Amino acid sequence: MKYKSGSFWRTLGWVGASLLPVTGLQAQETSWVIEGAKTVASVQPTMWGIFFEDINLGADGGLYAELVKNRSFEFSDPFMGWELSGKQISDGMVRVLNERTQRPTNPRYIRIEANDLATGGLELTNEGFRGMGIREGRQYDFSLLYRQVTAGLALTLELLDDSSKVIGKANWRPQSNAGGWQKGSVSFGTSGGAKKGKLRLTITGSGTIDLDQISLFPQDTWKGRKGGLRADMVQALADLKPGFVRFPGGCIVEGHELETRYQWKKTVGSVDDREVSINRWNNEFAHRPAPDYYQTFGLGFYEYFLMAEDIGASPLPILSCGMACQFNTAELVPLDDLDPYLSDALDLIEFANGDSTTHWGQLRAKMGHPAPFQLRKIGIGNENWGPQYVERFTIFQQRIKAKYPEIELVSSTGPFSGGPGFRYLDSAFRSMKADLIDEHYYAKPEWFLKNADRYDKYERTGSKVFAGEFAAHVEGLTGSDRNNWRSALAEAAFMTGLERNAAVVQMASYAPLFSHIDGWQWAPDLIWVDNLNVWLTPNYYVQQLYSLNKGTEVVSLTAMNVPLTGQDSLYASAVLDRPAGMLIVKIANVKGVAAEKNIQLNGIRRKGKTISETRLQHNDLTVFNAPGEKPSILPVTTSRSVSGKQLKVSLPPYSFTVIRIPCHLP
Ligand code: AHR
Repeated sequence: MKYKSGSFWRTLGWVGASLLPVTGLQAQETSWVIEGAKTVASVQPTMWGIFFEDINLGADGGLYAELVKNRSFEFSDPFMGWELSGKQISDGMVRVLNERTQRPTNPRYIRIEANDLATGGLELTNEGFRGMGIREGRQYDFSLLYRQVTAGLALTLELLDDSSKVIGKANWRPQSNAGGWQKGSVSFGTSGGAKKGKLRLTITGSGTIDLDQISLFPQDTWKGRKGGLRADMVQALADLKPGFVRFPGGCIVEGHELETRYQWKKTVGSVDDREVSINRWNNEFAHRPAPDYYQTFGLGFYEYFLMAEDIGASPLPILSCGMACQFNTAELVPLDDLDPYLSDALDLIEFANGDSTTHWGQLRAKMGHPAPFQLRKIGIGNENWGPQYVERFTIFQQRIKAKYPEIELVSSTGPFSGGPGFRYLDSAFRSMKADLIDEHYYAKPEWFLKNADRYDKYERTGSKVFAGEFAAHVEGLTGSDRNNWRSALAEAAFMTGLERNAAVVQMASYAPLFSHIDGWQWAPDLIWVDNLNVWLTPNYYVQQLYSLNKGTEVVSLTAMNVPLTGQDSLYASAVLDRPAGMLIVKIANVKGVAAEKNIQLNGIRRKGKTISETRLQHNDLTVFNAPGEKPSILPVTTSRSVSGKQLKVSLPPYSFTVIRIPCHLP
């Protein structure tokens, strides 16, 4: 798909050259030189990771495979997402009861009291999250909590496709002698599929029954786990082979006010007891309202840890430091009242790593994971700023390090990548010898190009950098078209600077991760989805090429003894992958003109003649992988034979190339 504003790139004066397809080659100049025997830095196994936040229907309505919206009637409008209809419906037949004293975390449920209900007499239809994605020929699990007050009512459930045709059906009846709250369930298959399906419940008979947690999941979740995650979405993450998973955000950690901050303890244990909370992205942006955006926490901290483990990534939870989002209320917890926040951090370490004799370790074991989750790092605060943040972080650092000296702490430099606020925090945290300092940059593509040498100027010693949220934001666009080749290529160029400076930058993650085409608040995003499909952006492929070609050591790659940070619009870095016996070179050509370079390979003995080149390329920077269409940008791998110590490389216009050169590495 092509976006209209074709010459925007050039008018910004970014590359200075034509946007038209290649017409000629730049003159060949001095060779580039790789010093393969001189390791500049180690690349951390955690270097390239992912940032997950429940934004853009990332969790509820996305990764969390629950199909019923507002299953427990806890949204501020208890019937949001539900439609009540039927020939026999009358006032008071369906009531919302609230028993906060007895059921503090899940107080609401519905009571149905009726006589002689015939089919079609009373129906409850759930619309799902912008519809329900249903696949043909698959099995689905329906479940609910129920309490019979007077026996005699039964349910028929039907899955409806986009044109309201029934594509799945089952009958469910309560156990005849059931009293108190019970779990009921029935599984059934589908004869058709739908992108925006619905679930209709028809109630028949006479009696009174209480219903809660009305739920529908596909059986083919990730790893087939009951009540689990969408397999296609987790697979997209697994295919990135991320070094870490940062969760649960983002601003969602802080909350609009302290009351709505993310509280991990409320997200573990039985799913039925997890208290629903408004999602802060519900009403954050007036131009993208999402009044039905809540968090059920069915995807809670246990599930995040499990997913990280499944995909071979290190978990990186971020916790509230006692400051609500400073773009919103900026509420502060007085220092005297910080204890519950400190306990949250200490208890989380116990939850993740403690054995079954500990309180929180025992809960993890009970939930199904006796082995520790290998938590090594925790972030305290997200995009907080000012002396109040430093004050609070200092207390966290003292308390956590006193008990768990092995745990590394991530501190944040706020939402901006420079300026007095950034410098104040950076210097405060460096003087406190903070382990990792989180930097965020959402900026124009030009910023990314200009800053490819950002970390060349950082001290090699002291605190390390976590580039915790970044994305190139093209101006003038609004949705998935923001994930165009222009943005991705700028990120690819910038990331050569992260890689070259692996001595300083030890972790990096693009943000945000997921976006639902019918329910997003923020763009660009790494992966776009609808209820059935996943679309990978050019930015995704850039991240993937780095992650799959991470290597183990950085080696020097220079032209005239200086790193490649935009000379002739070329950006480059090189790593060795010692176990794989591979030299890996990454080159971004951000100009609309092809280039040819000779690379002198010093201190390296090549193995065999064949090298491979994987490339992302397009002559039009405005293209993007439009949801629902054939992708415009995909990696293409070719092989060729080379000989000698000089490697000649051709770099097409607007391209990102990863070259893998087999070597004998001691
Ligand atoms: O990634 C979206 C938001 O951007 C994050 O929640 C926040 O940390 C940043 O401002």
